[in-house]
Amino acid sequence: MSYLSSKDIRQKFLEFFEKSGHKVVPSSSLIPTDPSVLLTTAGMQQFKPYFVGTADPMQDFGSKNTASIQKCFRTSDIDEVGDETHLTFFEMLGNFSFGGYFKEEAIKYAHEFITQELGLKIDYVSVFEGDSEVPKDVESEKIWRSLGVNEIKYAGRADNFWGPTGAEGPCGPTTEIYVNGVEIWNIVFNEYYMHADLPAGASAKEGKSLEPLKQKGVDTGMGLERLAMVTQNKPTIFETDLFSPLLEKIPDLEIKKQRVVADHARGIIFLLGDGVRPSNKEAGYILRRLMRRVFVYENLHKFRPDFLEELIKVVIENYSHFYPELKENRNEIINEMWMEHERFAKTVSHGLKELEKQTAINAKVAFHLYESFGLPYEVIKEMGAKRAEKLNREEFDEEFKKHQEISRAGMEKKFGGHGLILNTGELKAGSEEELNKVLRLHTATHLLQRALREVLGPEVKQAGSDITAERTRFDFNFSRKLTPEEIKKVEDLVNEKIKEDLPVNFKEMPKEEAEKTGALFFFKEKYPDKVKVYYIGKSLDSAWSKEFCGGPHVNHTGVIGKFKIAKEESIGANTRRIRATVN
Ligand code: ALA
Repeated sequence: MSYLSSKDIRQKFLEFFEKSGHKVVPSSSLIPTDPSVLLTTAGMQQFKPYFVGTADPMQDFGSKNTASIQKCFRTSDIDEVGDETHLTFFEMLGNFSFGGYFKEEAIKYAHEFITQELGLKIDYVSVFEGDSEVPKDVESEKIWRSLGVNEIKYAGRADNFWGPTGAEGPCGPTTEIYVNGVEIWNIVFNEYYMHADLPAGASAKEGKSLEPLKQKGVDTGMGLERLAMVTQNKPTIFETDLFSPLLEKIPDLEIKKQRVVADHARGIIFLLGDGVRPSNKEAGYILRRLMRRVFVYENLHKFRPDFLEELIKVVIENYSHFYPELKENRNEIINEMWMEHERFAKTVSHGLKELEKQTAINAKVAFHLYESFGLPYEVIKEMGAKRAEKLNREEFDEEFKKHQEISRAGMEKKFGGHGLILNTGELKAGSEEELNKVLRLHTATHLLQRALREVLGPEVKQAGSDITAERTRFDFNFSRKLTPEEIKKVEDLVNEKIKEDLPVNFKEMPKEEAEKTGALFFFKEKYPDKVKVYYIGKSLDSAWSKEFCGGPHVNHTGVIGKFKIAKEESIGANTRRIRATVN
């Protein structure tokens, strides 16, 4: 077989599945819809509603079968990055079926793609061995044998059972394909729903938490980097064309550090491209850790000043043909990188000096280094070397949590016992800085609802919302997927209203009177007899947007900044969800 670039592999994969009746669906954002997971970790995540039957694939895709190449990010392997196969960010090739085909077709497709399309030889496959709840998967074994694959290993829950992502969701036994000693393809037969009474990933006990799904499904995942490694016959993923152009730009360091920089650079750029911003919380904190680790190396090894922009350039050059959002968000990516660089530059050298002074680094000392100088755990562990031998992530996280609780208590005192500074159930802010951001997002959410109704019509009705300092999430009733043109129109309209710098005010009045103003209200909510109507525009009568709302909001729309829709998707029958950011 002639050389296949990663671009060829992506194309071959999608063409192969498209040809066999799959609808190709674009990658969803790295910021997931499911609030119980911080980032998108698997291709199946965007399809969860189709597996459980709350959304209709025929309606949304015109097919029960889909295929995608999904941007994924996993923190579970972060301590392994630098070896030959582990990454934080990666691309996952996957084919899916929601009540269409099952084991026989899924295995045959995978076999044909690996052996015929890519010309690779399967070393062996693994199959679920069965336990007290889920029977041994003899059917898969039979199918493999019928295809001439006779090297079959049986394994249990830890290796051959997948899911769920997040607190609960679809899951089931798997069969995995190994090529050149590397696991490359995981094929999941979604037959069960695991309920949330167990920690994510824990095995279910005696039937309590596994419920058979109404329809059987197939969910597969194959890491592009590993596949490129075996297809291009390279000893590590870093020698594939997915990494080599990037590594060429990384200065001469020890190999592990080079690989960490290459992995983190991709992660940082893709996270920024999807609207994640560095912060001390959740996804923002993951991003911050990646960025600061690279900055520490840069500081210690005195990289060229244009090094960061060089990395951004290479990643955009190599990936934006498939992920155009990178190119579209190029300026934001560069700006955010420099802003975080600036923030950290002030303390990094002090932090490293302080670290050098320590003789033994336990969790308390490590947390002090983090809190005072912003040094992330990974850096402390690495730079501390022998002195940080006993330091472990669990203890560090424990310190982190303790500290968050103390600062939350302090905040409560300062702001009169309201829990967080602001937590209305819909809006959440933990500091004054976050409060400002949340207010901007809140007003933007009103503009968004109004713009959606303008573009899509009065069928649009709010079904829920949730606003954090990172993003707004707005759920609404609408019967189909929005087109890219519609999304653009909505975005443009909101930005136009921001530009007009309209005043934002409210009037308090009895509920019946408020209803007569034509203000929108959320049908699920019970309102008191007296309500506030927030309006955006010069007067209540002439206002462009009017909603029943408790506030708070910004005083005028001009301060909101640039509004951007990060994602639009189905979360159930006739219900759509939009995630949006302001910058
Ligand atoms: N969802 C499965 C995985 O991520 C395919 O491995």
